Amino acid sequence: MDRYTIVGGKYVERDEDEAPAYGTRRKERKQPKAAAREGVAKQSFESNADVQRWLSETSEAEGAKEPFAPEALVGRRDGAWVLSSLSHFYEQDLIADVLREVKSGKEATVFCCAGGPSAEGLLLAAKIYRPRMFRSLSNDAQYREGRVVRNESGKQVKLTGKGVPGRASAKGRAFQVASWIGYEYATQALAYSLGVPTPRLYAQTGNGLLMEYLGDAETASPRLCEIDVGRGEAQAILDMLIEGVRLLLGGHRIHGDLSAYNVLVWDGQPYIIDFAQAVDPRQGDDARALLARDVQRAVAALAPYGARADARAVADNLWWEYLQGGV
Ligand SMILES: Nc1ncnc2c1ncn2[C@@H]1O[C@H](COP(=O)(O)OP(=O)(O)O)[C@@H](O)[C@H]1O
Ligand SMILES: [Mg+2]
Repeated sequence: MDRYTIVGGKYVERDEDEAPAYGTRRKERKQPKAAAREGVAKQSFESNADVQRWLSETSEAEGAKEPFAPEALVGRRDGAWVLSSLSHFYEQDLIADVLREVKSGKEATVFCCAGGPSAEGLLLAAKIYRPRMFRSLSNDAQYREGRVVRNESGKQVKLTGKGVPGRASAKGRAFQVASWIGYEYATQALAYSLGVPTPRLYAQTGNGLLMEYLGDAETASPRLCEIDVGRGEAQAILDMLIEGVRLLLGGHRIHGDLSAYNVLVWDGQPYIIDFAQAVDPRQGDDARALLARDVQRAVAALAPYGARADARAVADNLWWEYLQGGV
């Protein structure tokens, strides 16, 4: 006899001696009499309330989502990787489809996605880090890439040496990558909450971020380095960037890689992106120099269009205010 039975939609292991719940000949013969005695209509297996509930639950679950198979990923060498990264967002109803690749950088590829039921009508940008990142996280690779790896609280992580979690294992490296992607997410979320102009975040996975997309269905927002800024708007953009740096500093963060490459300009408004290199001035990094460099690069990017600011004086002033606790 079968050792399994269905109870409330689940297969459960049954005691050999226990009477089966459904389907023995003896029970079937007895049932009409008992039902008639109790005035209860005979119930078929399918009409059992638990079975019905289970059938409707499973068909809802199956019917709720088509398998995720965006056409835009067909034929990509990294298709399986991107698909598995984005599936998480699909399952969360945040995205419905991948429309196209926006940009492929050194470490990550950004995709434009159509919002799912929870983000109906929106376009979202998914930044997915490459598998290579999970393989090459050694101090040597960092040195070559100019990357500083930080954990979620902003502390610099040394990737070689004793006591490094999972130093040699793929799992350990995945943990480290997930940890600094978590840091990037946390920094950008903090920036957004402080009023820094930056895309709003929606979700995070171990190797990617999902955020507000800047641009329209045809073209993504250009970077500051790709456009000619009108003379009239250059000063306003520079002032907004410096104000963004000030607000972020108030949250104990310095972007650390601010430049015309990490500023998108959409509808005349600058948006700061790519917070992976951000530093916490309280952690003892060379924060003041990084702040000065961020300000200097913002000023240099807008200077050709007539915007003016004394980068050194602005940075000194921001730093002084920060030390006074007044930022
Ligand atoms: N929210 C967004 N909306 C539109 N395009 C974006 C968005 N975020 C990033 N991009 C595009 O993707 C590129 C890479 O993103 P970025 O965060 O700077 O990653 P990387 O680490 O590769 O420099 C950007 O230069 C920009 O062109
Ligand atoms: Mg960048």
